[in-house]
Amino acid sequence: MLNFNIQIPTRIRFGRGKIEDLGKEILNYGDKVLLVYGGGSIKRSGLYDQVVQIFQDNGITHVELSGVQPNPRISSVRQGVKLCKKHEVHLVLAVGGGSTIDCAKIIAAGAGYDGDPWDFFTRKAKIKYALPVGTVLTLAATGSEMNPSAVISNDDTKQKLGTGSPVLIPRFSILDPEYSFTVPPTQTAAGTVDIMSHIFEQYFSPTPGTFIQERLAEAMLKTCIHFGPIAIAQPGNYEARANLMWTSSLALNGLLSAGKLTDWATHDIEHEISAIYDVTHGLGLAILIPYWMQYILDEQTAPRLAEYARNVWEIEESEDIIAAQAGIKKTAEFFKSMNLASSLSEIGVESKHLAEIAQRATAKRTLGAFKKLEYQDVLNILQTAYGVVAP
Ligand code: NZQ
Ligand code: ZN
Repeated sequence: MLNFNIQIPTRIRFGRGKIEDLGKEILNYGDKVLLVYGGGSIKRSGLYDQVVQIFQDNGITHVELSGVQPNPRISSVRQGVKLCKKHEVHLVLAVGGGSTIDCAKIIAAGAGYDGDPWDFFTRKAKIKYALPVGTVLTLAATGSEMNPSAVISNDDTKQKLGTGSPVLIPRFSILDPEYSFTVPPTQTAAGTVDIMSHIFEQYFSPTPGTFIQERLAEAMLKTCIHFGPIAIAQPGNYEARANLMWTSSLALNGLLSAGKLTDWATHDIEHEISAIYDVTHGLGLAILIPYWMQYILDEQTAPRLAEYARNVWEIEESEDIIAAQAGIKKTAEFFKSMNLASSLSEIGVESKHLAEIAQRATAKRTLGAFKKLEYQDVLNILQTAYGVVAP
């Protein structure tokens, strides 16, 4: 295990009815809020009315930024920054999924910066200051509710880039699983895959001696495999939604990555795909993960992949390579069982873009840590995932 520092300052208020704490939480920071939300799911569910009522009851004034899109755009961030500066807001409140939260985080950073917020992604500027951010989560997936990261798309440059800073970590997050009852089946499945993918990116690591991190990761993977299908079949199942929601936060809050190198190659490739095609993040990951696992399987990686197969899928096989292959097959079958696509061509990716995606993903660096990937490796994975070459 490597040395590490960890600090997870988000106050989590988890469970039914926890929205009652929203007013008190906001007033810790001031009484002028920018409310950020997406395309209308919170209006349909009634959550919007509840939040606005809480503002009124607590003497909180607010301005709004609505219409944040999945794969949130820098143009929305710019609008939000303008509102913050004009109205001198004290806190940015995101009510929604990862896209809304990520947008809110960069708005909060942009509010204290004189230049264009895209500078945070091109590394022209570093995020040193941000307004406080709070969240009310409605979709279990990204872990953004408890972490320092944000991913934003730029339509002009066709880029989707990430950034992060400790000052972006939400000060509080209200996690009421009932708010995710209305998440549709495909989005529930995509969210489940995203959570699993975050766990994989940290579980598949070259760092030895991290027994505790691995066992925690396996428990989280089993939770997703058990409760993902239940939440799809029974959208109002509180236990399923609660377990998925808490796993989404735990999977990417620093707990699993403490003391080890992490991989992130699949994410890096997926972000290039959704930069061009605007696909749902978890959907792209569901396609890539089994092909990535298959591609990187060799004598060096087999023991960990076999450990995954045995501990998560209960495969009884003593030969590592064979156990690993069985685990990969189970993974692909599980994603398919949630009605997710299993090839890039199915989601409209065109073969003419595969080389460009591979080139962009590897333009600045070698990908991965568990297994390092160069341009040709990424292209090979994309070609099998597309359906050009058999895996
Ligand atoms: O926009 P609305 O109307 O709210 O609808 C959303 C959206 O269409 C809908 N939705 C959310 N909660 C709902 C609901 N529909 C019904 N009932 C509810 N309760 O779901 C759709 C997708 O929402 P989105 O926020 O885009 O999903 P998700 O949470 O999966 O976020 C994806 C974004 O986060 C980034 C992804 O790349 C992508 O841009 N990521 C952020 C990370 C982070 N900050 O740490 C890490 C991740 O790996 C990821 O890259
Ligand atoms: Zn993700």
